Amino acid sequence: MFSMEKEPVREFISAEAIGRRIAELGSAITAGHAPAAELVVVCVLKGPFIFAADLVRHIGRPIRIEFLRASSYGSRRTSSGELSLGCGIDFEVAGCHVLVVEDIVDTGLTLSRIVEELRMLAPASLKICALLDKPSARQVAVDIDYTGFTIPPLYVVGYGLDDAEMHRELPFIGIPAR
Ligand code: IMP
Repeated sequence: MFSMEKEPVREFISAEAIGRRIAELGSAITAGHAPAAELVVVCVLKGPFIFAADLVRHIGRPIRIEFLRASSYGSRRTSSGELSLGCGIDFEVAGCHVLVVEDIVDTGLTLSRIVEELRMLAPASLKICALLDKPSARQVAVDIDYTGFTIPPLYVVGYGLDDAEMHRELPFIGIPAR
């Protein structure tokens, strides 16, 4: 039977803690880029859409925001290992200072593939900012320049992250009950 009731989610990282950490990340990113440098912020949809929106408001440098669509999970909780880039890189990268913004790095397959594609387009610099890092599941090494929180191997939702498209709207990061 179809039910509109929401599945319960236990809070893991509060909205306040996320907000404080994002302000710190914004300061670190600002300090890590020259005052005149325009930053091309690449948001890898869908997960980081809320994080990226909050983060850019804490970066004290000129910003251009671009979106890439990538998915390696489908509707499951484990990576399929095969990344689909929904749309290609249709924005200028050559000579630009690029900051890739991710919600969570798990196996590392998604980011390593995106970074590889971006590097082929000769950016002036390329850095990575991830809200969450789950290093225990890593299959490919990825250098994350700015990490929000390092977490254990849990499946988390909220603040943009989903479980089969559910829970993205939660203001905190939590653990689904089932
Ligand atoms: P990776 O390619 O295995 O590193 O997976 C990265 C992508 O998987 C992220 O951008 C998320 O979309 C998704 N993902 C990984 N772990 C989680 C999780 O705990 N909750 C929700 N999505 C996740």
